[in-house]
Amino acid sequence: MWKGRFSQPTSQLVQAFGESVSFDWRLYAQDIRGSIAHAKGLEKAGILTSGERAAIEKGLLEIQHEIEHGDFEFQSSLEDVHMNIESNLTARIGPAGAKLHTARSRNDQVATDVRLYCKDAIDRLTTDITHLQRALVEACERCPDAVVPGYTHLQRGQPVLFAHHLLAYVEMLSRDASRLADTRKRLDVMPLGSGALAGSTIIIDRPFVASELGFAAVSQNSMDAVSDRDFIAELLFDIALCGIHLSRLSEDIILWCTAEFGFVTLSDAHTTGSSLMPQKKNPDVAELTRGKTGRLVGNLMSLLTLLKGLPMTYNRDLQEDKEPLFDSIDTLHTTLEVVAEMISGMDVNAPRTAAATSDPLLLATDLADYLVKHAVPFRQAHEVIGKLVAFSLSEKRGFAQLTLEEYQSFSPAFEADLFDCLSVQTALEARQGIGAPSPKNIASQLTRWRAALSPQA
Ligand code: ARG
Repeated sequence: MWKGRFSQPTSQLVQAFGESVSFDWRLYAQDIRGSIAHAKGLEKAGILTSGERAAIEKGLLEIQHEIEHGDFEFQSSLEDVHMNIESNLTARIGPAGAKLHTARSRNDQVATDVRLYCKDAIDRLTTDITHLQRALVEACERCPDAVVPGYTHLQRGQPVLFAHHLLAYVEMLSRDASRLADTRKRLDVMPLGSGALAGSTIIIDRPFVASELGFAAVSQNSMDAVSDRDFIAELLFDIALCGIHLSRLSEDIILWCTAEFGFVTLSDAHTTGSSLMPQKKNPDVAELTRGKTGRLVGNLMSLLTLLKGLPMTYNRDLQEDKEPLFDSIDTLHTTLEVVAEMISGMDVNAPRTAAATSDPLLLATDLADYLVKHAVPFRQAHEVIGKLVAFSLSEKRGFAQLTLEEYQSFSPAFEADLFDCLSVQTALEARQGIGAPSPKNIASQLTRWRAALSPQA
């Protein structure tokens, strides 16, 4: 492609070192779409006749067909997907092909292709997120009454509905989807027409080309347009954070599957056995999800590190943006799919969760609130209940087994109705504030999510 200036061929080692077609071939569809739109721009600018433009389009669509049917041979000597397609086109249709690269550089071409690729990937990941959210909502609906201890510091805190715990992840995932939507909005800008770095003396109707490609806007600074990879950094962050949410969900599931917790059972289809210990049933999907999140974070770090020292504008370093990008997109896609399937096969062991939640100490805060409702300042109430907890532990009698007189010896504000707060059901029903886990609130949250996640929404 640059034979004019050079008298020696590229060394084999340099070719192998610098080729990217082994991974950027995945941009072929976006590259072809971009080239077809660019050809229309060139026709409008009077560079191509309509016959030439039509020949280019036909040739490119043939190439696409061959790629999709495994009949196209990518050559690493042609470096990247862009040069493979262009040189094949020229070999196929002759001189018109050689005009396609007018007023274009691989620098604006690759930036355009990757943005198009990211838009498609975001749409797919958003659908994957919705599927997982639905699987979580369905898991809630399979056990609407199951209660679990809510934990802080992994120490039992207060009772909640199991559905409340799962819906927390539905919330996280909806922020992930909205972050992706934000990123998509910002990256929906077309770099094509920026040339190598300073546009071209041949004036292309860029808004026309952008509308052909479905871009909402065209970039306004050609130097920025060819060197900007902010959108990849943003997308890799969005993906990494979504992965972190899945990793935290996985950690919960791994704990819940232990004999010690025993809160849930995963289906045989989503667990694996041990080659040595016949009794084992391991939550490998959750563990791998937790593990793969490391890659997602690593890919984000790779890209940020890649960008930090680059002078303006395009530098070949930027070719290194693609492998982390593709890897993160692929990894999150398969992870979301498999986690959704695992959640669909997850059953709650309600007797175990109920037993864990029957620990009377989980209602200590409710007793403190009882005193507050009887005009005791909260700090004082906290201390009274703290002493009662110590007393109950030393007596080896739960809150329900202490007498009214014993309660009154800690605070005269206690009356016989204190025993009403000692039920998990009462404790849950009392939590009526917005965002709190009363059964009524949870039912309306489930209705809200059902509607928001329905395919028609
Ligand atoms: N394969 C290259 C990349 O992904 C395309 C742009 C090459 N541009 C150049 N001036 N060498 O970054």
